[in-house]
Amino acid sequence: MKKTTLKWGVCLFVLALAGCQNRTTTLSRDVHTSRLDGYEAEIDAIIAGMTDEEKVAMLHGKHMFTSEGVASQGIADMIYADGPFGIREEMEPHSWNSLHLRNDSSTFFPTGSALAATWDEDIAYLYGKGMATEARLRGKDMILGPAINIQRIPTGGRTYEYLSEDPYLSARLSVGYTKGVQDHGVAVCLKHYALNNQETNRGSVNVIASDRAIREIYLPPFEAAVVEADAFGVMSAYNKVNGAWCGENEFLLDQVLRKDWGFRGMVISDWGGTHSTVRSVAAGLNVEMPGNTYHGQALLDSLRAGAVAMSVIDERVREILRVRKAITPIPESQANVVMTGQPAQAQIAYQVATKSIVLLKNEGGLLPVDRAAVHKIAVIGDNADRKMSSGGVGAGVKALYEITPLAGIRALAGDVQIVYAQGYTSQQGGRRQGGWQMQAPAQPDPARRLREEAVQAASDADVVFFIGGNNRQWETEGSDRRSMQLPYNQDSVLMAVAAVNPKVVFVAVAGAPVDLDVVDACAPAIVQSWFNGTEGGRALAEVLFGVISPSGRLPFSYPIHLEDSPAYAMGNFPQTDAPIAEDIFVNLVGNARAGDVQAGSSNRSTAVYSEDLLVGYRWFDTKRKPVRYPFGYGLTYTKFDYADAQISKPKYSANEEIEVTFTLSNTGQMAADEVVQLYVHRVDATVEWPEKELKAFRRVALQPGASQQVTLTVPVEQLKYWDEAQHDWALEHGQVELLIGASTGDIRLRATAGI
Ligand code: BGC
Repeated sequence: MKKTTLKWGVCLFVLALAGCQNRTTTLSRDVHTSRLDGYEAEIDAIIAGMTDEEKVAMLHGKHMFTSEGVASQGIADMIYADGPFGIREEMEPHSWNSLHLRNDSSTFFPTGSALAATWDEDIAYLYGKGMATEARLRGKDMILGPAINIQRIPTGGRTYEYLSEDPYLSARLSVGYTKGVQDHGVAVCLKHYALNNQETNRGSVNVIASDRAIREIYLPPFEAAVVEADAFGVMSAYNKVNGAWCGENEFLLDQVLRKDWGFRGMVISDWGGTHSTVRSVAAGLNVEMPGNTYHGQALLDSLRAGAVAMSVIDERVREILRVRKAITPIPESQANVVMTGQPAQAQIAYQVATKSIVLLKNEGGLLPVDRAAVHKIAVIGDNADRKMSSGGVGAGVKALYEITPLAGIRALAGDVQIVYAQGYTSQQGGRRQGGWQMQAPAQPDPARRLREEAVQAASDADVVFFIGGNNRQWETEGSDRRSMQLPYNQDSVLMAVAAVNPKVVFVAVAGAPVDLDVVDACAPAIVQSWFNGTEGGRALAEVLFGVISPSGRLPFSYPIHLEDSPAYAMGNFPQTDAPIAEDIFVNLVGNARAGDVQAGSSNRSTAVYSEDLLVGYRWFDTKRKPVRYPFGYGLTYTKFDYADAQISKPKYSANEEIEVTFTLSNTGQMAADEVVQLYVHRVDATVEWPEKELKAFRRVALQPGASQQVTLTVPVEQLKYWDEAQHDWALEHGQVELLIGASTGDIRLRATAGI
């Protein structure tokens, strides 16, 4: 990371200002200094000249995606944009209706889990830079992203938006994304703070979790983005945590965010997620979005009645002004004058996509397909020809263009004949966990005809690319999937196809794990290719035809069956204590004016995170439960050897970094990237720990036959646990085993150190 970072002069300047030169690879737990700190005298003067009405006007939405500045003093409004993987189109000020502008089509970047599958902090930086560049063209001050909640359940409606089940991987990518955005003139808004890990009843659910799980699993991505990357904005989530709404949660907003991490910026509520006037401003919520139910007249009245102190209002105003000062506003006349999507950003989206695709299975070396050796390829599946930029509610992108898998394959096929059959239709119904879902219009069931066409196309093809998976209606904000089952009867179509042609490559276009029982029986090769952005189809074709070696690695565990995964195995998801309510977003859409928006239903369910620290692979490893594919897993078209692990010394003190060096060799025939991973296992511990935890990783590119010495470092600071009795981080002294490998299931080297 450091080497590449140095290339970016601006970044270096910012790092120097933030005083965080040594923090590019570590999560520091001290309060940070912030670039937001340079404006206090100016802000004093602004606040001194403001009326009460002007102050209160800053603390709620003005339009659906705008909050008020201080017009009398020439301070511009704050303008927000969804996020997180493309700058959302322009909408009417008080509704969700598109303005249908000609210039607001943007680059569709690969979605969250695709970015995470790159395991590359530098790529996340470029991604952030790309997002910021397009946000500036549109006059935006703050991107509503990155979305960095932990992927707690495989079925989560927003698993595809989020990064990973692992806090360390999520933290590294959040830091890259945040720096990339903020080094290029736009603020981030980290969302959804915090523990918004399910869509089912998200507007009402009360999440009960231990302090240790909160600190060690759920908060590190937010902590790292604030402490290391100086994030300027945070969005409070819809749900409650341990009894208090996130938008008025003193523990989250005041204790952790501002006091423990030294956050100097502003907190905005998720849309419709404010629940009080006095409690929320006192806890640290700056802006109620998008309306003014609680932070409008009610706040002014509370101020005048003495229920809220002027000093509290001034502090909330000050925090917004810091961000306003740090981000140069773009005059309206300069916004939207050119097309948002630009080739430089499409190139970034392409780079991300090429590094994200995960090869899960490749029996008999079916992949890559040699174009000189085949004549006809059958491409089957609705997802082959489906664009994935729109859908999913807030994260939908009006993309300038999107290369589908079919278009990508056709463009690279050369003389090979490509025959396409849709195979199944996504117009068929399916059941989800409830809540918000875009309903497809009812149509006559063409399933049998489509299946026959697919079988026909496959029967005389040299190879079949079955492009299935989910789509942006199936994986969406506002509801969770009921199961991991592939929707729309894909399994039965796949079986019919495989019966006439066993050379099937199954491509899962999905942001989350899907049930691969039938796929595994039918397809010798399986690829996870995500909702992979504007250039996704091109990157996929390059992998299928061997132009590049696949180099993505799973950012989550792939369970064999859903019941194996922790929240399901513990019986704490889905919750059964309350019915599934209509999603909070339905209320938002139903209201014509932003100011009328009310928070969700009166339904009250409780999500007890009883698996505690054992989220994702921490559960599977500790409980010795088999998985279909482990966290960190992904094949390539080459082979890598790991040898000679050495640690720099046998014992380390609390402020030192453990250094492990080993030799990585590409012993195959093709240039490829390996993602080397370091996990820590505690030996004879008295504190309870998961079996192993990711603490370092690096993507290494090697030519065939080449070797490289790789050093991975782990600050001992990173090995602390949250001591609930002491309310502080504590180090358990003893022996730790450092496990180096290619996934949690493929440890190649071991070394032991004392701490
Ligand atoms: C989503 C946020 C989004 C906001 C504005 C909410 O429903 O949860 O992620 O930024 O809407 O579109």
